[in-house]
Amino acid sequence: MTSNVLVVDFGAQYAQLIARRVREAHVFSEIVPSSITASEVKAKAPAAIILSGGPKSVYEVPAPSLDPAIYELGIPILGICYGAQLMALQLGGEVAHTAAGEYGRTVVTRSGPSRLMDEWSQSTDCWMSHGDAIARAPEGFVVTASSPEAPVATMEDAQRRLFAVQFHPEVAHTERGQELLATFLHHIAEIAPTWTNTSIIEDQVAAIRKQVGTEKVLCALSGGVDSAVAAALVTKAVGTQLTCVFVDTGLMRKNEGEQIEETFTRQFGVELIHVKAQDRFFEALSGVTDPEKKRKIIGELFIREFESVARELGKGGDGPRFLVQGTLYPDVIESGSGHAANIKSHHNVGGLPEDLSFELVEPLRSLFKDEVRRVGEELGLPAEIVWRQPFPGPGLGVRIVGEVTRERAEILRNADYVVVDEIKKAGLYRELWQSFAVLPAVRTVGVMGDGRTYAYPIIIRAVTSDDAMTADWARLPYEVIESIANRLIREVDGVNRVALDVTSKPPGTIEWE
Ligand code: XMP
Repeated sequence: MTSNVLVVDFGAQYAQLIARRVREAHVFSEIVPSSITASEVKAKAPAAIILSGGPKSVYEVPAPSLDPAIYELGIPILGICYGAQLMALQLGGEVAHTAAGEYGRTVVTRSGPSRLMDEWSQSTDCWMSHGDAIARAPEGFVVTASSPEAPVATMEDAQRRLFAVQFHPEVAHTERGQELLATFLHHIAEIAPTWTNTSIIEDQVAAIRKQVGTEKVLCALSGGVDSAVAAALVTKAVGTQLTCVFVDTGLMRKNEGEQIEETFTRQFGVELIHVKAQDRFFEALSGVTDPEKKRKIIGELFIREFESVARELGKGGDGPRFLVQGTLYPDVIESGSGHAANIKSHHNVGGLPEDLSFELVEPLRSLFKDEVRRVGEELGLPAEIVWRQPFPGPGLGVRIVGEVTRERAEILRNADYVVVDEIKKAGLYRELWQSFAVLPAVRTVGVMGDGRTYAYPIIIRAVTSDDAMTADWARLPYEVIESIANRLIREVDGVNRVALDVTSKPPGTIEWE
């Protein structure tokens, strides 16, 4: 493993963004809780430490603190925002409330030489978000910049390699933020930029080989990015021991099954079991309109289909012992323990029966989504899979309001294809978190030629989001909406009207069910 940076988490997701920025500078980073002790830090032997921002004031009780012995370990430390103030306070400086605080773009003015900002001009736009500010730097530190409300906007003790910045270098609005992080990592902490896609792949391939030895491995492909990249990594490591299973529920996007088959069978030469289970899913869903019931039926049937493949493979006693999961680093962090062995509850293969006991292979558990995509590209997965927007486990089933039938699934699949195709042509696909079509359970009257029609409307749903926890409806250009609407009515049988969903989350959810 390459040298490692610890990002100490003081709350509110700031740490995740910092950890990602550190990795963009090609240095491996790991998020640790602020309760970490000096001896735990020492055991991890990091090459540098970054203290994150946080939502609290250092004077709040309780407010997260840091084991002060960590400052004595001789490891370079960069404190950011809350982390900067905590460092100042713990090392003998002073933090005070400011009159108005500073929020958003703020000009930071240099007041002397600085190892961190050596090349910066006199004034630089930085992004701030603070009520308190460092009023006096601790002994041994020099103040290197100020802002209107922060007399000590940055300070450093070059000898002890301790640095503090009130602004957020991890935020894109801070003009030279990424450069500052790179300077800290490469020049001050002297960490070589060795964390690259190639090194990630090499490390994971070695780890997978070590874990599975000569045993067989099973992987459920969902059509999504994570399972595809995880499978591609396992293929590279132990391709001949891997069997992939793709269960076609009849609720997948257009061409999804063919794409998977093409990639994994023909390109990667992996054994792929393509379960064509459409009939069984439509039968089980017949007459069901309650959203939760639909989800449950789809989830349970998926497991049954997967289970029967696994049992079939296990006949004769030498079936797969390992199951690949596309667990990502944010799932690991959010589970709190740094030890997320639980299969994701909303994931389709959740809740596998006890007697099918697999050991999990999770080659993506130290990666963020953007790293997963880059690794996927490097492994030769097609852009269409690597850049695919998220898709729910129950598939089109949660976008068909009311009864799910083969005919209605076909209407929605064709409509979804048109929406996505136009969004791609407009160059908006990667910008949007999700963009898709929804089929409601009503029909409306229209005219076409001389005749009256009575058919379904399609609702266009497009949102921007960072993490799906909150989302905003996307302001699609009128021309794009117009071409989607024209094509939907012209090309998709059974559709005679188009509407646009302008609901954010909250109060809406992204999906309709
Ligand atoms: P909502 O609709 O709750 O969705 O705003 C948030 C995100 O989660 C996806 N989603 C699911 N993903 N299984 C999944 O794997 C599911 O049952 C499921 N339901 C929603 C949704 O597409 C969005 O990205």
